[in-house]
Amino acid sequence: MLRTHTCGELRVNHVNTEVTLCGWVQRTRNKGSVIWVDLRDRYGITQLIFEEGSTTTELMTQATKLGREFVVKASGTVVERLSKNDKIETGDIEVKVSALEVLNKSNVPPFTIEDDTDGGDELRMKYRYLDLRRGPVRNNLQLRHRMMQETRSYLDDQGFMEVETPVLIKSTPEGARDFVVPSRMNEGEFYALPQSPQTFKQLLMVSGMDRYFQIVKCFRDEDLRADRQPEFTQIDCELSFIDREDVLTIFEGMIKHLFMSLKGIEIGDIDRMSYDDAMRLYGSDKPDTRFDMQFVELNGVAQGKGFNVFDASEIVVGICAKGCSNYTRKQLDALTDYVKKPQVGAKGLVYVKCNEDGSFKSSVDKFYTQEDLKSWAEEMNASAGDLLLVLSGDKDHTRKAMNELRLHMGDALNLRNKDEYKALWVLDFPLLEWDEETTRFHAMHHPFTSPVPQDLDKLESAPGEVKANAYDMVINGVEAGGGSIRIHDRTIQQRMFKQLGFTDEEAQDQFGFLMDAFEYGAPPHGGIAFGFDRLCALFGGSDSIRDFIAFPKNNSGRDVMIDSPSPVDRVQLDELGISLK
Ligand code: AMO
Repeated sequence: MLRTHTCGELRVNHVNTEVTLCGWVQRTRNKGSVIWVDLRDRYGITQLIFEEGSTTTELMTQATKLGREFVVKASGTVVERLSKNDKIETGDIEVKVSALEVLNKSNVPPFTIEDDTDGGDELRMKYRYLDLRRGPVRNNLQLRHRMMQETRSYLDDQGFMEVETPVLIKSTPEGARDFVVPSRMNEGEFYALPQSPQTFKQLLMVSGMDRYFQIVKCFRDEDLRADRQPEFTQIDCELSFIDREDVLTIFEGMIKHLFMSLKGIEIGDIDRMSYDDAMRLYGSDKPDTRFDMQFVELNGVAQGKGFNVFDASEIVVGICAKGCSNYTRKQLDALTDYVKKPQVGAKGLVYVKCNEDGSFKSSVDKFYTQEDLKSWAEEMNASAGDLLLVLSGDKDHTRKAMNELRLHMGDALNLRNKDEYKALWVLDFPLLEWDEETTRFHAMHHPFTSPVPQDLDKLESAPGEVKANAYDMVINGVEAGGGSIRIHDRTIQQRMFKQLGFTDEEAQDQFGFLMDAFEYGAPPHGGIAFGFDRLCALFGGSDSIRDFIAFPKNNSGRDVMIDSPSPVDRVQLDELGISLK
């Protein structure tokens, strides 16, 4: 090997040792008679020192010529530093260089490759290989690597077998658009990239694999956000001969194992909440339960007092912001502006200040007496010093807006601490969701999810009321994973497709392979998939999964480094039988 040690390894106990290091020149400081060089590799930074008197003139000259990001090999003696640097782990020592070899030069990098960089997003993405040299980005990938190893180790211990499923498949209706790949040998026909290995993992259960997992790339052509990439990674799992409780226990175990092994955190038992409660108390199927501020419905106390806006509303709902009765006019106006933003969508905001002296001041004093407002405060368990924020309108929109306001207040009051983790199972989702646009039901999870047995009879008579045997794991308000107990019976699967608007022929055409398989001894089965990138981002305390993907796409789905997607050759298109307009 070219080196004896890494740049993160040397300590005081190495003093007087002869070492050889290899790495990149992060920066040099030239004081004339002394030159310091910060040498960086994956493991850390070690300071090299060249000193007039003890270093040869030739070597001094060589050192002055080092540019940023030159790759060098330096040999010398470890010495204790006079002024120590407690910010880096090797800060007690430096290497007094006796030989230096430039292994490769570098152009001046387009941005500073240090923990704090001056490079903007686009530039860093274009030169992602340079960005990856920076400590924080590298640490994110290190976390990802550890998470992968710990996941594999846990699942292997639990008897799961890793099986690879194909990447060129036929589309599975997972809710998003497919990426399609034209087939040269079957002109006019296309493969689809998997949105998930859903049907394959179910077929593996029919094959008797019993416990399957795969850390697998999935592809979805959907609008991108901080927590969505067009290609992302799932921890995909499926089990036979289990019920919901078994799945929850095994994967609660996995999450606990990951928190303990990667962060040394004991997260305790994971709470459970029904979908209905999540919507009623938080207006979201992925509530952030790190803080309370639950919704309180005020219809009983706020309606019928002559305030038309409330009287005409399906729901009047409030949250209590503890200790915020001293909010100024300006702060309240800012909150009103916030809820009126199109993304939030409320028409206005009513507030009630619970003053320290026991009186109340509200934006609707014209319509409500002090006694009325007191009853609101009681309903909401508010104390003197609190601020009540109230929205009204139809249930869906108002709850959605209140969810945004709650999260906004959670941020404002620093209640969403990134170092605190709260995981939650959300259960009993509706099986089907009515879609106004297409005027038909959609599977809320996917078409292979089983209804809870007691609701099976209602599948045709009251489809909207049927609950799914499905579960989501939510961590700090992020949907970290989701799954379900599956249908394993052809007749029920056919009934499900019918509810989704498929004719028997369409269902057979698209999913005949799965339904046929159900007729050859399909065991009862179920599973779950976790968003691996999302778990990494959560563990790394970031909102963006991009930071945890080595070569991510930007928000327009482009890889700006390799400049993709890109046009292809006419010849290639001809071969595929594709003509462009
Ligand atoms: P689902 O569609 O809920 O379920 O996906 C599982 C998890 O994958 C993550 N995820 C994403 N992460 C990053 N970018 C995306 N575009 C993206 N889309 C989803 C989320 C989500 O919880 N086959 C089923 C699972 C099952 O039933 O077993 C499925 O794919 O964290």
